[in-house]
Amino acid sequence: MNDGNKCRIVLTRTFPSPLMELVHDVAVCVVNPDERTWSCGELLRHAREHAADALLVMAMDQIDTALIGDLPESVRVIATYSVGHDHIDLGAARERGIAVLSTPDVLSDAVADLGMLLLLGAARRAHEAMQLIYDRTWTGWSPTQVIGRDVSGGRLGIVGMGRIGRAIARRARHGFGMAVHYHNRSRLAPDIEDDATFHTRLDDLLAVSDFLMLAAPATPETRGLVNESSIERLPHGAIVANVSRGDLVDDEALIAALRSGRVMAAGLDVFNGEPNLNDDYRSLPNVFLQPHQGSSTIETRLKMGRLLLDSIVRTRAGELVANRLV
Ligand code: DGY
Repeated sequence: MNDGNKCRIVLTRTFPSPLMELVHDVAVCVVNPDERTWSCGELLRHAREHAADALLVMAMDQIDTALIGDLPESVRVIATYSVGHDHIDLGAARERGIAVLSTPDVLSDAVADLGMLLLLGAARRAHEAMQLIYDRTWTGWSPTQVIGRDVSGGRLGIVGMGRIGRAIARRARHGFGMAVHYHNRSRLAPDIEDDATFHTRLDDLLAVSDFLMLAAPATPETRGLVNESSIERLPHGAIVANVSRGDLVDDEALIAALRSGRVMAAGLDVFNGEPNLNDDYRSLPNVFLQPHQGSSTIETRLKMGRLLLDSIVRTRAGELVANRLV
C-alpha cells in the first residue's frame, strides 16, 4: 500500500516486535518510544501534528471528555488495546461521532488462565512459599510447612459472567471440579450457564463464595464492591481474586480483612492507582500479586493487535465491526 492511502495512527506505547511490523504495514504511525504514559497534552500534540485518523491507546491512557473535545477533526477512531474501556468517555466519543474499538474475546483465555493462577497462588500461599527459597530460609520438607487450601472441589463465586467470567467458570468447573456460582446483571441462557448457580442478589453470592473472583467491568455500580460490609458476608477465611479493575476493591477494607484473617488470602492482578498500588499490600504475606498481567502472553498480545489494526482499517472504510463500542 502506498503511504498516501495508509491510515495515520498515533500509538501510545510500543507493541511487541512482530506487531510493530504489522503496524508499519498498514499505517503511517507515530509511536511513543518510552515506557511511560503520555500526558493529555502530549497525546493531543501528536494527534494534531500527525493529522491522525486513529488513536491506538492503552488502558492507562485517560481518554476523558476534555481530551475528546480537544481532538482534531481528523481523528475518527479511538482503538484501545484492552477489553476494559472505563478509561474512555464513550458518551463524549459518540457525541463527536468518533468510533471506539476494543479487544473482546481474543484475550478471555489468557485472562482466565491468570485468574486461575491468582486463585492457586493465593490458596497455596505461593508468595510465602517462594519467599523460603529466595530468602534461603527453607530447611527442608516438613509436614507443617506453608499449608494452603484446596482449590479443587471448592465453591467459586464469580462476579461478572461476561466472556472472561465464563472462561474462568469453565476452567474452575471442568479443570478443578469447583461448584460455580455467579452474580451478573442478568441470568445466562441455560446452554452457556453450564450448571453454574445464578444469584440475583450479590449478598447471596457472597454467602457461598469460599473463593470470590471479580471479573466484572469497572462501572459506577461495581466500584468498591469489595468493602467492609460485603467482606462480612463472605464465609470466614474466604479467598478473593481480582482480574478486572482495582476500582472494584476498597483497599483499606480488604487489607484490614487480610490482616485479621477474616479473608485468608487474596490474588490480585489489578489495583487502584496503578502502578502506585497501596503499599500495605507489599507487606502482607497472604497476598499473591501480579502487575496487571492478564492478557500478557505473546499469542494474545498479537491477536489483540491484529484485531485492532484490522478493525481500524475496516472502520475507516465504512464497515461496522463487531468490536466497535460506539
Ligand atoms: C484489559 O484488556 O482490559 C486488560 O485489563 C489489560 O488492560
